[in-house]
Amino acid sequence: MTRVTVIEPSSPGELGEYYRLRWKILRAPWGQPPGSERDPLDECSTHVMAVNSAHEPLGVGRLHFNSISEGQIRYMAVATNHQRSGIGTLILETLETRARLLGATSIVVDARETAIGFYRKRGYLPTGPGHMLFRQIAHVQMCKRIG
Ligand SMILES: CC(C)(COP(=O)(O)OP(=O)(O)OC[C@H]1O[C@@H](n2cnc3c(N)ncnc32)[C@H](O)[C@@H]1OP(=O)(O)O)[C@@H](O)C(=O)NCCC(=O)NCCS
Repeated sequence: MTRVTVIEPSSPGELGEYYRLRWKILRAPWGQPPGSERDPLDECSTHVMAVNSAHEPLGVGRLHFNSISEGQIRYMAVATNHQRSGIGTLILETLETRARLLGATSIVVDARETAIGFYRKRGYLPTGPGHMLFRQIAHVQMCKRIG
């Protein structure tokens, strides 16, 4: 694997790259326009982005809190040609560490059915059905205790 660093995007350029990759992986394949990848909680969330030594974005993920003890991780997306090489795990571990530091005792995710195996490997267990995105992407709620 190329040398990968996890950063918190902060400059306009980094944030642009961050949202572009989120859109490219999670929205563009379903014909959704740029901008559709954002939501109001982005303003008060922790964002992380994995980059290579040339500072190119490889993967992204976000943490916000539903309560003082429950974190939620959303918008996990790794560039297609870098999937299955440990980058998603690196991002998830970074967000879990941050959640723990901020006081979370559990983390929930609303996992696409195609990503359930990824979260299971990291200790998340299904807790119930999740939402249906664009009338075609089924999700499953999953939870991990970290306290
Ligand atoms: C899901 C995703 C974030 C995982 O990131 P990744 O970098 O590909 O995953 P990793 O390489 O860190 O994989 C970690 C482990 O999970 C497994 N895994 C990864 N993706 C998986 C999947 N879709 N189904 C089953 N297992 C998976 C890997 O085999 C790996 O196991 P190993 O450590 O024994 O080799 C990434 O594949 C992705 O962006 N997918 C498309 C968008 C998406 O579905 N995002 C999640 C929305 S809820």
